[in-house]
Amino acid sequence: MNTQEVVAQFQKYVVANYGRNPICFVRGEGVYVWDLEGRRYLDLFPGWATTTLGHCHPRVVAAVREQAGKLIHVDNTFYMLPQGRLAQLVSEHSFGGQCFFCNSGAEANEAAIKLTRLNGSDSGRFRIITFSNSFHGRTMATVTATAQPKYHKGFAPMVEGFDYAPFDDLDAVKALVGPQTAGIMLEPIQGEGGINVPSMEFMKGLRKLCDDNGMLLIFDEVQTGIGRTGHWFGYQYFGVEPDIMSLAKALGGGVAIGCMVARTEIARKLVPGTHASTFGGNPLACAAGIAVMETIEEEGLLEKAKSLGAYAMAQLRAMAAEIPIIKEVRGAGLMIGAQLTVPGADIFKECLQDGVRINCTHDTVIRLMPPMIATESQIDEGLAVLKKRLAARCK
Ligand SMILES: Cc1ncc(COP(=O)(O)O)c(C=O)c1O
Repeated sequence: MNTQEVVAQFQKYVVANYGRNPICFVRGEGVYVWDLEGRRYLDLFPGWATTTLGHCHPRVVAAVREQAGKLIHVDNTFYMLPQGRLAQLVSEHSFGGQCFFCNSGAEANEAAIKLTRLNGSDSGRFRIITFSNSFHGRTMATVTATAQPKYHKGFAPMVEGFDYAPFDDLDAVKALVGPQTAGIMLEPIQGEGGINVPSMEFMKGLRKLCDDNGMLLIFDEVQTGIGRTGHWFGYQYFGVEPDIMSLAKALGGGVAIGCMVARTEIARKLVPGTHASTFGGNPLACAAGIAVMETIEEEGLLEKAKSLGAYAMAQLRAMAAEIPIIKEVRGAGLMIGAQLTVPGADIFKECLQDGVRINCTHDTVIRLMPPMIATESQIDEGLAVLKKRLAARCK
């Protein structure tokens, strides 16, 4: 089969709900991925920021292989070894809560929303404040939580109980708090919304607001979690602890997994019958998660994410001095955005033609989320292509 034939197969049999690029990836190794015709690409946005250890990291591959040969799936009416171990790792590296496992970021957020409502149900609180330019997933509740009208179009009526505030505006949040407000939910650094890093005062102010009003603070760490910012979790970058956080993406190193972590006294409210997931926390996905977390720990990859991220941002800022269409470079660790003054979709496509995969989000933000195992020279290789393509726009 060639790529054209694969495209034709998709056109006939696969729902066309994604804007796909006409490239069929068949193999990956580290920072590189190969297409069906054997062309190699440098991948600075692997698996939409899931394969944080690079493609097919040997430790993830070995863990999945070993677990697949032992036990792939048992249901959650029994105990299993990998789920308990992964929950322990997540809890010990975060705020000591308990984990509920599922299969995606949307499901982890859905669980967080349900638990927030359950927690407030005795006092009639169910409303959740979320933020403009957020992204929380595509289920009905999480897409409603996502305060971007473009994602709501055609799906009305949306789910009751969400109030939207402008991001990084504490006074606006305060004005929305009412007797029915159960919690505040946000990404510590907005990803899809354009790599928006809020101020420390805003984050600390939200914590205080929740404490003063008996509300829960919920962090969607689907993108910021598992080392992306150079800390295990984005909240540690700000030194502001949530009551609940959601994880997915990088936790499985490319294997589907989601996880909601909640402070234990809140988590205890999810008694049998309140929430569940058939595949959630299955041995295969959890074995991958354990391999990811142990590798990050043993190979000192948090420090690596900090230093490599600082290097990449410094290079981009130097580039911005020469290329006026780069307005701002922002981010933390290996979560990096370059705000352009022009649309970035074509630049993404041109870089792909040159064998480099980046991302463009929120129309005008070039987003890089390289794997933690990348080297400075691989960053240089990618940025050289980006620079060439951006510079061509300035002529
Ligand atoms: C911050 C954030 N939350 C939630 C999601 C949804 O995750 P999933 O696509 O795994 O459902 C995403 C996906 O990009 C995300 O970036």
